[in-house]
Amino acid sequence: MIIRDKKIVLGVTGAISAYKALELARLLVKAEATVLPVMTRSAHEFISPLSLSTLAKNPVSTGLFELTEGSKISHIDLAQGADLIIVAPATANVLGKASTGVCDDLLTTIIAAATVPVLFAPSMNCHMWENPVVRSNVAKLKSLGYLFAGPAEGELACGYEGLGRLAPVEDIMEAAEEALRRKDLKGEKVLVTAGPTREAIDPVRYVSNASSGRMGYALAKAARRRGAEVVLISGPSHLPRPSGNITFVRVESAQEMYDACVTYYPQSTIVVMSAAVADYRPVKSYPAKVKKEAEMLTVELERTQDVLKYMGKKKKDQFLVGFALETENLEENARKKLKEKNLDLVVANSPAGLDSELNQVTIINRENETEVLPALPKDEIAERILDTVVNMKSA
Ligand code: CTP
Repeated sequence: MIIRDKKIVLGVTGAISAYKALELARLLVKAEATVLPVMTRSAHEFISPLSLSTLAKNPVSTGLFELTEGSKISHIDLAQGADLIIVAPATANVLGKASTGVCDDLLTTIIAAATVPVLFAPSMNCHMWENPVVRSNVAKLKSLGYLFAGPAEGELACGYEGLGRLAPVEDIMEAAEEALRRKDLKGEKVLVTAGPTREAIDPVRYVSNASSGRMGYALAKAARRRGAEVVLISGPSHLPRPSGNITFVRVESAQEMYDACVTYYPQSTIVVMSAAVADYRPVKSYPAKVKKEAEMLTVELERTQDVLKYMGKKKKDQFLVGFALETENLEENARKKLKEKNLDLVVANSPAGLDSELNQVTIINRENETEVLPALPKDEIAERILDTVVNMKSA
């Protein structure tokens, strides 16, 4: 049902399993998608464009320049006018190019210009798949929000057994459905805050906390994937700046976080405040490095602005999600924050999730409905939080 009436670019690269792309094209057409097939030059060595265009019910495109003549379709139309781009099979070569932004043919140019989900179904020898360079390319692509189906394990065309087979076409269809289904934040303007803040004591010292920014970055990328316009306001973090269509604002202190939030809040429809904003800052910030002279040094701290509380007070139609980091009475304290800051949802967690790949959270809404999630990777928690937001907004 989801695939019906969708425009899907089907990119085919040069691997033995290219013949399975014919079946994939057939299934996509059967599900009533418009399939726009693109083949690389080396794919022509494995299957004929005539077979693919017959099954896809559209002509095959291959060259970067052939599209402009007599046709309105360009690589930009293909990249942005489609709902989804599937690359099946995806060789180590295309993954390497996509991960470094190389665009030296039509398919890689479409991938580079894409503003829609790109789903790779890798297919290669198991040793190639295990090659650290390929592993790092795949990890990079995943971290940038590219989707993957497979590869599967089993007998390979080269005679080896292992991980590298093209995923079964039914699995690729399922992954395509999944990629299309999650457009449920289209039209939303999502503001996400992430990371810690740093409150200067002097030019080289500061008060901060252990937040890595991972949860917020995962939320921003997930919201983007699901079709939202995203602004990510981030305190200092070592994470790479998310690519794609995300407005990125880097801040240092709680005051800068507050100022940036005040700027973007009015036009936002959903706010997820996952930053670990400092509650206190030094009253005095020394202009020069403090020398080790006095036996005792007292740093007096004063309260910072509570950004979320400000947002709760000014709330019009915005959907407000806060986090609550608690070492004791998790649910009770989180509920208190939900009420006091006028939130729609609170995500409670313990400090174990700070600076970690995994997190274990409890999601509580205004009706006091509580969902305790198991320990999950932060990417998955981000999806679950957004699922709850979408469900509550549409209820
Ligand atoms: N928050 C904020 N501005 C601050 C402090 C916190 O916007 N100056 C936000 C956080 O981003 C989070 C929520 O408020 O979404 C709760 O933060 P947390 O540190 O758990 O609680 P506090 O409100 O600071 O209360 P306490 O430290 O007493 O637990």
